[in-house]
Amino acid sequence: MKKIYIKTWGCQMNEYDSSKIIELLKKTHNYVLTTKPENADVLLLNTCSVREKAQEKLFHQLGRWKVFKQNKKNLIIGVGGCVASQEGEYIIQRAPYVDIIFGPQTLHRLPKMINSFYDVRIPVVDISFPKLEKFNYFPKVIPKGYSAFVSIMEGCNKYCTFCIVPYTRGEEVSRSVKEISLEIIQLASQGVREITLLGQNVNAYRGINFNGRMCNFATLLRHISKIEGIDRIRFITSHPIEFSDELIEVYKDVDKLVSFLHLPVQSGSDRILKLMKRSHTVLHYKSIVNKLIQVRPDIQISSDFIVGFPGETIDDFNQTMHFIMDINFDMSFSFVYSARPGTPAADLSDEVKKEEKKRRLYLLQNLINQQSRRWSDRMVGTVQRVLVDGLSNKDIKQISGKTENNRIVTFNGSPDNIGKFVDVEIVSNNFNALKGKLLKIENEPDIL
Ligand code: SAM
Ligand code: F3S
Repeated sequence: MKKIYIKTWGCQMNEYDSSKIIELLKKTHNYVLTTKPENADVLLLNTCSVREKAQEKLFHQLGRWKVFKQNKKNLIIGVGGCVASQEGEYIIQRAPYVDIIFGPQTLHRLPKMINSFYDVRIPVVDISFPKLEKFNYFPKVIPKGYSAFVSIMEGCNKYCTFCIVPYTRGEEVSRSVKEISLEIIQLASQGVREITLLGQNVNAYRGINFNGRMCNFATLLRHISKIEGIDRIRFITSHPIEFSDELIEVYKDVDKLVSFLHLPVQSGSDRILKLMKRSHTVLHYKSIVNKLIQVRPDIQISSDFIVGFPGETIDDFNQTMHFIMDINFDMSFSFVYSARPGTPAADLSDEVKKEEKKRRLYLLQNLINQQSRRWSDRMVGTVQRVLVDGLSNKDIKQISGKTENNRIVTFNGSPDNIGKFVDVEIVSNNFNALKGKLLKIENEPDIL
């Protein structure tokens, strides 16, 4: 049997795409997955170009794989994802041993591309944007655990000045409610209890509803919440624009929607938000959070931050730090700004020194880590609903699972409880590693 090795960079979106590629090639070519690139017959790199020197990183990686071709003439090397979408044929000009280039919207064509390469031995490049076509080709998912991702929309129309995504992944397009529902029903029938809806801006969702009319994200959530077997719903990522009152109402009515929201903001300075073309102010963001707190007093918020955007003064940065304290963010994905070629911000003059940017990032992450620890400390003594997902790595008598706010909790319990929701009292917190005591297993009487 032929073997495939796939290396994935970046976000959940890419992880999702890679899992689909594996399932697809298993079905069409009977490939099995290997964890050793040296054993593979097909080597695929699913790239991300949101940050860092993605192009250089790509050619370094390809250089390491090139040597495998010397001993294995039939080895196929393919590059996909955002760097492939941006660079296209140039990758083959610079690395002529690359055989296939595919984009985020053409990964379902890989089986044909592989066959075509075996037939004629000429590199195949397809980085076009056939809207949503890929979803028609993905085989039924075989979930690995009790949580699963479901993509509801692709692309982004927001064109933040620093971001490459709209250029590499295309404009916003939404899958229909029927397609999404069928995928979730199938996952639920295989034991999945928790769904994370995926998209660059899920709250820009505009899909066709069962009645042929347009459905927005709030209504989609209400539909999904009625699917039997699914008891916890998350989503990533949403945008402060389009975080409507209708969506906030869903938090009031739908218990299955977790009290934890990842809502990217990038900066706490209105001046920088404007330069980033985020189309909202700090006040707007705060008003969303305040409204959410009214309907869900226990809600916790995490966010994305970019530090050292061109022209960010120490005053702008301090505003971000105060904003972080005001909101009391629990977690962040935070990075130093990295200029993306072709984006408007890449042309802005950038006088802040690299060392200073790193210092600001350190301060920001340190603050959010402290806040996060305090959030965990506050959980001690409370009862949390936990989805048990496996045995503890450290002690075979213990099982572990996740709380609504993404904390891992370990506690004494039977492996029979894996895949169930249980109530656990949090007894200690050691640097966000929570220990608990099992109180109740779903559909069973209380433990005395
Ligand atoms: N849709 C989301 C939103 O509302 O902002 C974010 C999607 S973006 C792919 C993920 C994160 O990458 C952004 O929130 C931002 O913090 C980060 N990012 C994007 N471009 C970046 C850049 N040029 N430099 C540093 N970080 C960047
Ligand atoms: Fe990027 Fe802004 Fe869209 S961060 S993914 S252009 S919302």
